[in-house]
Parts: sequence; structure tokens; C-alpha cells
Amino acid sequence: MQRTALVTGGSRGLGRAISIALHTAGHRVAAVYLSNEGAAQAFSDATSIPVFRWDVSDFEACGKGVCAVEQQLGPIGILVNNAGITSDAVLHRMTPDQWTRVVNTNLGSVFNMCRHVIEGMRARGYGRIVNISSVNGEKGQFGQANYAAAKAGMLGFTKALAIEGARKNVTVNAVAPGYCDTDMVAAVAPDIRQQILDGIPVGRLGTPDDIARLVAFLADDASGFITGATFDVNGGQYMA
Ligand code: CAA
Repeated sequence: MQRTALVTGGSRGLGRAISIALHTAGHRVAAVYLSNEGAAQAFSDATSIPVFRWDVSDFEACGKGVCAVEQQLGPIGILVNNAGITSDAVLHRMTPDQWTRVVNTNLGSVFNMCRHVIEGMRARGYGRIVNISSVNGEKGQFGQANYAAAKAGMLGFTKALAIEGARKNVTVNAVAPGYCDTDMVAAVAPDIRQQILDGIPVGRLGTPDDIARLVAFLADDASGFITGATFDVNGGQYMA
């Protein structure tokens, strides 16, 4: 059945591929972005997927944004919490601002968005929530205490909300991507990136489509018995 899907960070990187996969699956998709207006407009022009701008780390902004999407596209049935940032530093040099920004954007946003859609999903008896975590939330990563903590936090959140939503046909799952071919990974220094690549058994970075096809599967009406799970898509880099 056609649903309204909202993808945070939905115009670039993994989110772009996820938005397109959900659109291809027949859903009405809203892609949320914050900073890169030009990329978002180009994405919207190329795909005809509408884009919406707000800061997902801001609870009130999420409330207004959800209302705007629902007015234009109808009640949200699928939510993909994908927006995320890095601000890598070893802990002995990490500033409080680096900690707060990463935790608020990557984990705070999951509360903000879920809180604004969950009542409607429960009332309608349908919801598919997919949280995009990270291999580094599972295994840890040098220089990412902030990011790893936020991404690990998403896994606990996923399980708790999965239990709460189960009787209302609201499933909540997490996908933990490994290193993928995105701007975020391109920003890692080339020597460190090569070391990471050497540790991936399949011998390549993931593609955004590697992640998006799983998200579309989890978002499907027929995936109602899959909930509270974490799916690793990391080329064998980490086997939980
Ligand atoms: N394990 C142990 N020691 C390490 C190490 C590791 N993985 N990496 C570096 N070190 C050591 C270095 O050898 C160096 O030791 P010496 O001082 O004895 O030479 C020391 O730690 C300092 O290392 P750096 O020079 O790298 O420190 P820095 O302060 O210049 O940089 C950093 C720190 C920015 C965190 C840098 O190490 C880095 O970029 N690391 C990669 C972080 C990473 O993987 N980020 C992923 C981004 S993509 C993403 O997050 C998407 C996703 O979900 C997968």
C-alpha cells in the first residue's frame, strides 16, 4: 500500500538513496535537509521528491515540520531517522560542543522525530520506523566517543520503542551501516580510510544502495513481524 514516508537527511548520502528507494517502492516521500540548500533543490528537481528544511535536533522544529509534511502528503506511515553528523576527536581533545552537537543531532533527533509521529501511528495502527545507526555504535571507533555513544543509544531506543509499538503494528528496527561511499567517509584522512578499507572483508566500501534496499524492505507492509532488530550491512567488517 502507498504510504507517506519521511526521511531525515534525505537529500544526500545514504538518505538520498533511501528516499529514492522508498519513492521507487511507490511511497510518497518527504526528504528533510538542513544545510545544503543547493544539493537539496537539485535532488528534488531530479527526483520530484519534495524537500523540507528544518533542524532535527530542535524538538519544536520537528513538530512543525511533521505537521507541514502531513498537510502536504498525508499521515506519516514510514519514518527513517537517517540524519547524522560526525565531529571526530580523541576524547582528551573533544570539546563539550562536539559532544553535544553529535549527540543531539544523531540521537536527540530520534526522540524528537519519533515523539511527533508515534501518537498518529498508534492511533492509525500502522508504522514503520527505521533508525540508521552505525557499525561504530556496535564496535566503537577511535576518535568517535560522541558518535559511537549516539549510535549505540539508537539501538537501545529502537528496542524499547519496538516493544511499545508492537501491539499497534508499529515496527521499529535499526540498520547499522559500515563504511559507505559518502561525503562523511570521504572526509576521513586518506591513510586512515585505507586502513579501514583493509579491514573490510568484501574489500570495498558499501554503496548507499546497499543500505537503501534493506530500509525499503523493512518499511514494507509485509515486514510486520520484524521488529526490535539491528541489521548489520558492513561487508563483514564487524560480526555481532
Ligand atoms: N587505534 C589505536 N591508536 C590509534 C588509532 C586506532 N584506530 N588511530 C590512531 N591511533 C594513534 C595514532 O597512531 C597516533 O599515535 P602516535 O601519537 O603514537 O603517533 C595517535 O593515536 C593520534 O592519532 P591521530 O594522528 O589520528 O590523531 P588526530 O588527533 O590527528 O586525529 C582523529 C584523530 C580525527 C579521530 C583521526 O584519528 C580520525 O579521523 N580517525 C578516524 C575516525 C573515523 O573512523 N571516523 C569515521 C567517520 S565516517 C562514519 O562515522 C560513518 C560510519 O558510521 C561508519
